[in-house]
Amino acid sequence: VLAAVGLGVWLGTRPPDAPEASAPPAATPTATAPAPTPTAPVPARDLFVGTCGSCHSLDAAGATAGIGPDLDELRPDRARVAAAIANGSLSGAMPAGLLAGDDAARVAAYVARSAGG
Ligand code: HEC
Repeated sequence: VLAAVGLGVWLGTRPPDAPEASAPPAATPTATAPAPTPTAPVPARDLFVGTCGSCHSLDAAGATAGIGPDLDELRPDRARVAAAIANGSLSGAMPAGLLAGDDAARVAAYVARSAGG
């Protein structure tokens, strides 16, 4: 609210020749979101974006890369994703063991849940 009031004051006090078309700067989501604590697990979506999003498309994660198969089209189940993460691809195009343990399991579940959306 304070920011909106401040913006209103700022807009109201601008010189009359200022261009009216300029939109007020959008607030960045990170400016108000609480910083994650170091011990909080990284959300599966973020893990996917950071680890897999450079090669795969997945609409739910906003990933649009085309090196590996489009996961929305492939619609792998959880076991298939987990196997892909553990083993990589025979061609070596997808490295094995990109994630391990709980991270791998959470991303496998996330992909199985979100693919096709
Ligand atoms: C360096 C690029 C790259 C990265 C990073 C990558 N992949 Fe892949 N992925 C590929 C390629 C290429 C294929 C196709 C391999 C093939 O068919 O030989 C593939 C195949 C797959 C498959 C299909 C496997 C199957 O059963 O057909 C799944 C599921 C998959 N990746 C999930 C993931 C997930 C989840 C991550 C992140 C942990 C990830 N990939 C990271 C390149 C990548």
